[in-house]
Amino acid sequence: MPESDLPIIIIGAGISGLSLAQYLRREKIPYHVFERDPSIDARPGGWGLTLHYGLPALEELLPPELYSRLNETNVNIEAVNDPGRYLFFDLKNGEAKYSLDFPKTGRLRVLRTKLRKLLTTGLDITWSKKLVEVRENPDSVTAIFEDGTTCEGRLIVGCDGSASRVRKYVYPTTYENQTVPVHFVGATVRYTPEQIRPALALDPYFFQGTHPETNVYLYFSVLNTPRNIGNDTDYYVAQAVVTWSYDKNIEIPENDAETVALIKQLTSNWASPFRELIEAIPEDAEIRRIHISDWYPTTSREHERVVVMGDAAHSMTMFRGEGGNNAVVDAHDFAKRVGHLLKQKDVPFEKIAAALRQYDEDILVRGRVSVINSRRACLDAHDYANLTDQSPLVARRVRADCNGTNGTNGN
Ligand SMILES: Cc1cc2nc3c(=O)[nH]c(=O)nc-3n(C[C@H](O)[C@H](O)[C@H](O)COP(=O)(O)OP(=O)(O)OC[C@H]3O[C@@H](n4cnc5c(N)ncnc54)[C@H](O)[C@@H]3O)c2cc1C
Ligand SMILES: *[C@@H]1O[C@H](CO)[C@@H](O)[C@H](O)[C@H]1NC(C)=O
Ligand SMILES: *[C@@H]1O[C@H](CO)[C@@H](O)[C@H](O)[C@H]1NC(C)=O
Ligand SMILES: *[C@@H]1O[C@H](CO)[C@@H](O)[C@H](O)[C@H]1NC(C)=O
Ligand SMILES: *[C@@H]1O[C@H](CO)[C@@H](O)[C@H](O)[C@H]1NC(C)=O
Repeated sequence: MPESDLPIIIIGAGISGLSLAQYLRREKIPYHVFERDPSIDARPGGWGLTLHYGLPALEELLPPELYSRLNETNVNIEAVNDPGRYLFFDLKNGEAKYSLDFPKTGRLRVLRTKLRKLLTTGLDITWSKKLVEVRENPDSVTAIFEDGTTCEGRLIVGCDGSASRVRKYVYPTTYENQTVPVHFVGATVRYTPEQIRPALALDPYFFQGTHPETNVYLYFSVLNTPRNIGNDTDYYVAQAVVTWSYDKNIEIPENDAETVALIKQLTSNWASPFRELIEAIPEDAEIRRIHISDWYPTTSREHERVVVMGDAAHSMTMFRGEGGNNAVVDAHDFAKRVGHLLKQKDVPFEKIAAALRQYDEDILVRGRVSVINSRRACLDAHDYANLTDQSPLVARRVRADCNGTNGTNGN
């Protein structure tokens, strides 16, 4: 088979992999997506993402009919005309310490699971395929899966998230993440309309805050409302996240009910309505503990036919909400650097390899700044006394490779 007929192998059906696959499908470049989960619905819960500087990139990658359906993935469809604000509270007195208006356009708060589902539309994806090994051949590359099957491709793009297997293959000496010393407990909670009303009055999507004395941090994010595309309910769903520094010497229990009890105790001195939002968490809520860590490459990529994208290429704490936006912009950078070469017949591989090195550079310049800012944001969230409006926790989100004047501003 001529090299150009071999597929681009995408490992991982997450935000970056699916965005890239939509572009390759549209441009009729052979591709195939392999995902370890058995189906798109395999993981319950999920979380909210604010798309800001990723939106223009997504618009250029997706077919227009798909992009125009993006609002269906909004976490709060009732608030589709409300851009929301970016609020940070003093959890002792309940007052907003920082409030930043979003631009009227160019921002969308989506449910990650709904966005992924929309992005799978029309794509060739094989599920239950966990990549375990990669083999490079003279003129191709082979992905090897846990079930013993293989696939030969032109390139492998590792879109396999923050614990990426592909990253380990291409950065064999430096792939290990760096711990950020913060404990994270997230609960996915059903709220009655009465329980959630005071929160929605603050912002229809999400808000955050820190208690100035304990430095315990809150992130509250609406995930679903009763009026819902195709599935109305009588309750709201939100993610309540409580985090604190390792310095406090308070470990997270392994047992969920004990963990719920602990976060209620840690937040019992919070002002209304923040305290009540945590008090309402039932003992049997779905609890998520996340090991907070980050990573960006500090050595050069080994293996010419294998690259990484999204969290696999630069994972960052979620305290600035930039990981998903970077993931989409990475896919756009790949399309820009490599797309036109993949469409031609008989392009010498050296040209593609050189374009891939430019892609590495594009995403490193942007991704590294996001990783560093997100780490600072995470540490500042637990250091109220030192928090200023210059902190990346509350400052405007801007693409690190742009000067901010060309419409790619977000916040
Ligand atoms: C609570 C929380 C809030 C966040 N908020 C925001 C926000 O507001 N804005 C924002 O921009 N970002 C946010 N993020 C970050 C964002 O979710 C990630 O950066 C984004 O999902 C990364 O996309 P990705 O494509 O790199 O990886 P993912 O979306 O993680 O997808 C990786 C995929 O690869 C699959 N996979 C893994 N290993 C293998 C393997 N070996 N073989 C095959 N498949 C594999 C996984 O199952 C998964 O489907 C948040 C994250 C969290 C946890
Ligand atoms: C979503 O809907 C809002 C309000 O109708 C509109 O301004 C915005 O452009 C839409 N966004 C997308 C991505 O379609
Ligand atoms: C980061 O490294 C730690 C310790 O090595 C490990 O337990 C954890 O799973 C890693 N996390 C990710 C997202 O890779
Ligand atoms: C509707 O939502 C509920 C609760 O999330 C879920 O159990 C149910 O399966 C959903 N129904 C459909 C048709 O999606
Ligand atoms: C504030 O930041 C400075 C410099 O990073 C640090 O030395 C100091 O300990 C911090 N203050 C508090 C109260 O943590």
